[in-house]
Amino acid sequence: MAYAGQEHERLQASQGEEVVLETVDIVKRFGGIVALNKVNIKLRKGKITLLIGPNGSGKTTLVNVISGFIKPDEGKVIFKGREITHLPPHERVKMGLVRTFQIPRPFPNLTVLENVLAAAEGNPGENPYIAGIYKRAWIGYERKALERALSILDWVGLLAKWDDRAGDLSGGQLKLLEIARAIMKGADTIIMDEPAAGVNPRLVTELFQKIIKLAREQHVTFLIIEHRIGLVAKYMDYAYAMNMGEVIAEGKPDEVLNNPLVLESYLGG
Ligand SMILES: Nc1ncnc2c1ncn2[C@@H]1O[C@H](COP(=O)(O)OP(=O)(O)OP(=O)(O)O)[C@@H](O)[C@H]1O
Ligand SMILES: [Mg+2]
Repeated sequence: MAYAGQEHERLQASQGEEVVLETVDIVKRFGGIVALNKVNIKLRKGKITLLIGPNGSGKTTLVNVISGFIKPDEGKVIFKGREITHLPPHERVKMGLVRTFQIPRPFPNLTVLENVLAAAEGNPGENPYIAGIYKRAWIGYERKALERALSILDWVGLLAKWDDRAGDLSGGQLKLLEIARAIMKGADTIIMDEPAAGVNPRLVTELFQKIIKLAREQHVTFLIIEHRIGLVAKYMDYAYAMNMGEVIAEGKPDEVLNNPLVLESYLGG
């Protein structure tokens, strides 16, 4: 009897550690510069992984390789057990791997809810005529899509703002709307390059608390390039620090942030 329960717990624990995405010995050169030199990272399901490192250490290049905007010279990217090294970005999006900037910017004159619904429809484009059709179009939406959009707004803490103009949201709320739209589009693995940029410093902690909640409760996997994680570092799951194209430390975020090699890399410049 006890065995079944233990087995269940063991399964749950192993599911929590499921590797969703992995880079294997990624090398990327730009002329004589080795931007990435055998980089190996892993993202685990429902976990938040941080990527830090001084300017020019290779963070954006790595994220470009993962999302498909740059082909590596060597190595592999594996997502959900499939090699995706040569898949174009939009094919990766279809598999659930989304970098937030791949979601078109919200329409400022549409409401928060309308923006989430529009994300599900693919991309109505920047065309103001099409955007006009979307205005108030939620009235005709399928109940299922509407319910999903409302759930997602609840998860990111924007439900109370569903009828506000997207253009009236704060920087932090816009980031949350971006995440909501990515999830509506089918994302379960989200990559963000410096999400706290443009967010009022007082609200950065709140933004990260919402991201943590999404990971914990909805099992969304995050890869976040960010230095300003301050108070929330201890709630993040794993960190990699890069310098000069290589991973120089990995482990618990506060340990990585305080690793002497990492501190030195920031001073080294
Ligand atoms: N398209 C490119 N052509 C040539 N060199 C490039 C290109 N993109 C990046 N590099 C070089 O590759 C190295 C890594 O750059 P990358 O942008 O990945 O660093 P980063 O860690 O994102 O830096 P930052 O913190 O400034 O955003 C740098 O030396 C950079 O100059
Ligand atoms: Mg960068």
